[in-house]
Amino acid sequence: MPKRINFNARVIFTMTCLFSFSALAALPPPPPQNQGIKDPGVQNGQARAGGALPGLTPLEMKFFSSSRERFQNIDAVQNGLGPRYNGTGCSTCHAWPSVGGSSPSRNPQIAMANANGAQNSIPSFINLNGPVRVARFVKNPDGTADGGVHDLFVITGRSDAPGCKITQPNFDAQLANNNIVFRIPTPLFGLGLVENVSEQTLKNVLASNAPLKAQLGISGHFNVNGNDGTITRFGWKAQNKSLLMFAGEAYNVETGVTNDLFPNERETDPNCQYNHHPEDTTDLSGINNSGSPASDYSSDIVNFAAFSRLSAAPQPAPPTNVSVQGKAVFNSIGCQLCHTPTLVTDKSTFSAQNNITFNPYSDFAVHAMGTGLADGVTQGTANNQEFRTAPLWGVGQRLFFMHDGRTTDLTQAISQHASPGSEANAVIQNFKSLTPQDQQSLLVFLRSL
Ligand code: HEC
Ligand code: HEC
Repeated sequence: MPKRINFNARVIFTMTCLFSFSALAALPPPPPQNQGIKDPGVQNGQARAGGALPGLTPLEMKFFSSSRERFQNIDAVQNGLGPRYNGTGCSTCHAWPSVGGSSPSRNPQIAMANANGAQNSIPSFINLNGPVRVARFVKNPDGTADGGVHDLFVITGRSDAPGCKITQPNFDAQLANNNIVFRIPTPLFGLGLVENVSEQTLKNVLASNAPLKAQLGISGHFNVNGNDGTITRFGWKAQNKSLLMFAGEAYNVETGVTNDLFPNERETDPNCQYNHHPEDTTDLSGINNSGSPASDYSSDIVNFAAFSRLSAAPQPAPPTNVSVQGKAVFNSIGCQLCHTPTLVTDKSTFSAQNNITFNPYSDFAVHAMGTGLADGVTQGTANNQEFRTAPLWGVGQRLFFMHDGRTTDLTQAISQHASPGSEANAVIQNFKSLTPQDQQSLLVFLRSL
């Protein structure tokens, strides 16, 4: 694992240093001067994401509406919550700027920690005004690779969990050992389009502009599924194959609900088992009466995947002179070589996804991002410092940026791309060489997405 400074440890370290003159020399260097450029900030007003794909058939539309409702269910223990959990329902974390999005401004994990009598202590890296965070441990106590999610909370103490006595992991010890890394939620809007881009289209995009990429030091490769050998596209390291797969995994990992894809509890203490498994499966009675029989009969995870699959891509704001100029800058300095502006879907079963041109601003490949962003976690073929090019659609209304939510400021998000070993170093150098006016127009363009 390359040497890196854990983000939170660094903040704590900096704060400690402020109180000790002798340690001042060890302070990290001040952030680079931004020459007066400024992130225009979160674009307020109506959410520009969260609706259905345009052009759905009436049956598809009903399936979308019902699955969107299902996505907002909050689980209790009798529905499968726990024994360990990070959230009590999908929409608690996927919330902003509308249902299905990313982290909201006030972290719901604070209230969740003590819902229904639970007595969880709130880990120091969870703050009311900070992003929703999920924690992974880099190594096991014996030094072998871990990389897995360790849930923040337990159901112990809840009125619906009598007799359960399990305790939370010791997060302070993990912080002290620099063994903990974080991820924030990614938005689910428009991901059916991403799911339906053909393998060949993605490969062509990655192979395009080869001389320019080579000149700038950009390579990248796809993360690949071990079972069928195809490209995986979802998650910060593109570690997951499909929306259904992600829904099944998230249901078990984030909320503790066993399901048809992940049928076994992660926490096996017999005193905390209350239900038969899988806790979520096909509803043979179909009595939900949601207006969509397909939704009523389907398991929760099928509904969750359908909600994301049938949702529309975020809508950019109407272009202005400055944002148009910013777009030209984006496309001239090399951002577009990873953040691919345009992709086209394959033939699709869903009418509204057939040969659709869309603008995710990602190549869905993973790239080495240097020691500054490295998290020490390997997933599939993505190593400890590789991440999926984050899709930039919807960035205009996003609150937190980068895989661990380390910043709310786009200028920081850009400068964080540069550190030893990052494929983005030359492009960030290009950005720094721009006039302040061009830099500013680029930021305005990003906030129009
Ligand atoms: C505790 C917060 C939390 C909850 C609850 C949660 N998620 Fe997520 N979600 C995340 C995080 C964090 C990521 C990024 C995960 C990663 O890459 O390691 C994510 C990523 C995803 C993605 C990948 C999107 C992309 O851009 O590739 C999907 C799909 C998803 N979640 C679906 C769900 C569903 C369905 C549920 C409900 C069963 C759910 N999530 C519940 C935090 C949460
Ligand atoms: C070598 C490929 C590459 C290049 C070049 C690149 N990026 Fe990125 N970008 C990424 C990756 C990978 C991430 C996610 C990194 C992480 O979260 O650790 C990212 C994240 C971002 C984010 C944060 C998005 C989010 O969801 O949090 C923004 C904004 C962004 N890039 C803008 C830019 C701009 C503007 C440029 C050009 C100046 C640029 N990027 C150049 C690969 C690249």
